[in-house]
Amino acid sequence: MKKTFLTLISIGITLIVLQSFQNVPTAKYSEQQIAKGKYLVEIMGCRDCHSPKKMTAQGPAIDFDNDLSGHPAAMPLGKIDKGSLGWVLFNMMNTAAVGPWGVSFSANLTPHATGIGNWTEEQFITALKEGKSKGIKTARPLLPPMPWQNYVNLKKEDAVAMFAYLKSIKPVNNLVPAPIAPGAY
Ligand code: HEC
Repeated sequence: MKKTFLTLISIGITLIVLQSFQNVPTAKYSEQQIAKGKYLVEIMGCRDCHSPKKMTAQGPAIDFDNDLSGHPAAMPLGKIDKGSLGWVLFNMMNTAAVGPWGVSFSANLTPHATGIGNWTEEQFITALKEGKSKGIKTARPLLPPMPWQNYVNLKKEDAVAMFAYLKSIKPVNNLVPAPIAPGAY
């Protein structure tokens, strides 16, 4: 009897501890918000830069197994021809770009810990509308070609819907490299 009681208590404690480690549950968002977020992410072209591509005879096609997971960490950068440095160059996937700001890599927007898995709604809104890295107000500005200036007037509810959708997609483990300063490549 005493043993059963103790077992029940320890199961209870385990459940409470497990629950406190959970990320913000997606159940917080409605199906309508998620659907609207999907629509916005699609028509606002986030995949152009944030999704890896597979090269086909018709040109680049979205790699849906790794959708929105940013520049693939394992992908080597092509040789950058110093003679082309008056230009902005993109890799074939549109996930890495070199220009006067150095080299930037598109971020992982999936709900994995290497993406936005541990982000709050506020961080996402700050990143999009104020162009701050990791959505932290005191952090560095986001580098080109992330077009955050276009999103300054994005309505908060639209940003929240996009966040709801991104939190609902498949998490992809991909730690995107840090940007490289001008001249350091
Ligand atoms: C033209 C390419 C391009 C498009 C289009 C684009 N992004 Fe980005 N985005 C980037 C790049 C590159 C970075 C990384 C910038 C940096 O490291 O400073 C980035 C960074 C971000 C970040 C910050 C991530 C972090 O870790 O700080 C968020 C959030 C983000 N993008 C969301 C979006 C969303 C949502 C869309 C669509 C509405 C979008 N982006 C469209 C290229 C793009």
